[in-house]
Amino acid sequence: NMKTIHTIADLRTALKQTRLSGQKIALVPTMGNLHQGHIKLVETARRQADTVVASIFVNPLQFGANEDLDSYPRTLASDQEKLMAAGCDLLFAPGVSEVYPEGQDNQTLVEVPGLSDLHCGASRPGHFRGVTTVVCKLFNIVQPDLAVFGLKDYQQVAVIRKMVRDLCIPVDIVGVPTERAGSGLALSSRNGYLSADELATAPLLQQTLQQTADAVRNGATDFSALEQQAQQQLEAGGFQRDYYRILCRDSLQPPEAGDVRPLVILAAARLGPARLIDNLEI
Ligand code: PAJ
Repeated sequence: NMKTIHTIADLRTALKQTRLSGQKIALVPTMGNLHQGHIKLVETARRQADTVVASIFVNPLQFGANEDLDSYPRTLASDQEKLMAAGCDLLFAPGVSEVYPEGQDNQTLVEVPGLSDLHCGASRPGHFRGVTTVVCKLFNIVQPDLAVFGLKDYQQVAVIRKMVRDLCIPVDIVGVPTERAGSGLALSSRNGYLSADELATAPLLQQTLQQTADAVRNGATDFSALEQQAQQQLEAGGFQRDYYRILCRDSLQPPEAGDVRPLVILAAARLGPARLIDNLEI
């Protein structure tokens, strides 16, 4: 029996007893239009905590001026059903003025410089500042013991981990592997923007990542050549390039010669109306 709460004050009241009784609280932040990837986060939270709070908030601050803030799908009723079925205890679904009472121009921002400027942050200036600002607010509103994020947004998890370390925020960050369709396509709310043809093309992104990873495992060392090949394959398949990079998992910087640190490939590419991202740890 899940409760939906729309204000910060009501959420604090609802969680007060929970906290006093020593229960472990998990937060699963989302923007709604939930799919099986989000549900996997809720199930992970369910296993690791006594009380599971999910949030649904389409955060204007993390969308660029030409992005899909207005068209982002809002499906509260079906999201509530899915969350309830997954064992969520509380849904926090605030309006924009609840989270940003003083408007978007008048507030303290939380920024993780460096990491936030790379990769997705370079393609979407200000995006990660919007993410860290809202996630910090959600952490202060809910005060969870742990928070669960999907590794589909690999750089997002890295940026949030850095924020938590740098600001001594007492929240454990749990990362959950990417949930995929049978085709290998990473589940995403933005897949809903794709036509049938584009949906048939979209799995090429994950297939390309697998091929690059295989090549690296088989000893290829010219990473920029592998990146170029991958970009060309994606373009030939109908994608427009954004970025495709073989990186160190810890720093999200390119490995240096002889580097033995574990690697990850991060990729973003546009397919018709959607910007798709995916990644693969090698
Ligand atoms: P949203 O895109 O709704 O994603 C919410 C959470 O679900 C994120 O942690 C994301 O990584 C995870 N997720 C999405 N697709 C997934 C998949 N296929 N498998 C596993 N996890 C998946 O990410 C955001 O919202 C926002 O930036 C947010 C963190 C809520 C801040 O506004």
